[in-house]
Amino acid sequence: MKKKIRVGMIGYGFMGKAHTNAFRQAAKFFPDLPYEPELKMFCARNEQRAKEFAENWGYEKVVTDWREVVESDEVDLIDICAPNNMHRDIAVAAAEAGKWVLTEKPLSLNVEQGEQMVAAVEKAGVPNMVWYNYRRIPSVTLAKNIVDRGSLGKIFHYRANFLQDWTISADLPQGGEGLWRLDLDVAGSGVTGDLLAHCIDTAMWLNGSIIEVSAMTETFIKEREHSLTGKVQKVGIDDACAFLAKFENGSLAIFESTRYARGHKALYTFEINGEKSSISWDLHDLHRLKYFDHGDESIVRGWRDIHVTDGDQPYMDKWWVPGLNIGFEHSFTHGVADFLASVDSDKKAQPDFRNALQTQKVCEAVINSGKSRQWVKTNVEL
Ligand SMILES: NC(=O)c1ccc[n+]([C@@H]2O[C@H](COP(=O)([O-])OP(=O)(O)OC[C@H]3O[C@@H](n4cnc5c(N)ncnc54)[C@H](O)[C@@H]3O)[C@@H](O)[C@H]2O)c1
Repeated sequence: MKKKIRVGMIGYGFMGKAHTNAFRQAAKFFPDLPYEPELKMFCARNEQRAKEFAENWGYEKVVTDWREVVESDEVDLIDICAPNNMHRDIAVAAAEAGKWVLTEKPLSLNVEQGEQMVAAVEKAGVPNMVWYNYRRIPSVTLAKNIVDRGSLGKIFHYRANFLQDWTISADLPQGGEGLWRLDLDVAGSGVTGDLLAHCIDTAMWLNGSIIEVSAMTETFIKEREHSLTGKVQKVGIDDACAFLAKFENGSLAIFESTRYARGHKALYTFEINGEKSSISWDLHDLHRLKYFDHGDESIVRGWRDIHVTDGDQPYMDKWWVPGLNIGFEHSFTHGVADFLASVDSDKKAQPDFRNALQTQKVCEAVINSGKSRQWVKTNVEL
């Protein structure tokens, strides 16, 4: 008989939906998990909409104050799908109440808050994880396996982009529902914490610590009306960011992100160039991994286009038959499965809070470098 793990979810937006779907699917598609999630309690501030969400997805109870979920005896696990400025307070309170804690990325608004969160979960000894979900797209996990077995040889270069185009209009307000990402106080930063944080997490997972960065940031539209106050206010976030980085292993990197790349909706790509092989990946084609092996016979040497759907490729034995794709949402189901599988083992699912704090350090170094126009050390400990 599986142990039930009672989930308390906070936030019904984009991620509230993605995570709830994952909690519903995980035990069905990963039948060997020791725990089975139970959708116990749901929290958002708008009671009517929270009730509609809870009814649609099958939560038993609805509350409008996150403290009620955190303090409830009926909940074992808190999942934070609220904006970035809420992560610290909820996570620290949840850890102090002895709950397992999952939070969306970025870990926190800044390194100081992140350190408080790490201290809280480590003091309480509670299982914890941050949803850097791209690690769990099978083609990205396959990239990790290829790198780890040394197939690339010495790595020279890493480059990543995350490009969008949804904030180009000067009429777009900042703040409030859906637009909190443009409000510095709620988001902590712009594309750096929102988009580059994903790229940085993947990069350090695949290629080790980033030790130093040199960044250029820009806010193209300097003032926007604030949805909540109705006043025209200064925009404090970075609309675009490009940075150079050095990894501990000696490789060089270039990262770029913007919400002003007309025509791009979520173009996350990365490429790694090693002495023996290269790897390239594109979110828009997420079930594929491109791989170039210099060891191939020269007359057939070229970029392979691996369709990652076979049962011996990461996670794919849990889904359909070879040749059939899975999508973005499955990365969250894999996150739930890996987390629940790791709770009672010595090898904890990653990134845990401490691991995600390292990405926060790089983000903060990038923002500081953008301001100072100097190379900045990240002080990452991996
Ligand atoms: N891993 C990913 O791919 C990914 C993608 C999108 C967002 N995110 C992260 O997920 C988090 C949420 O983003 P989103 O896109 O789902 O946002 P969203 O705006 O779609 O939803 C946010 C939810 O939080 C609720 N909320 C806000 N303040 C609250 C409070 N004080 N108490 C209770 N509920 C509150 C809102 O009502 C809403 O339901 C952010 O940290 C974001 O960075 C991660």
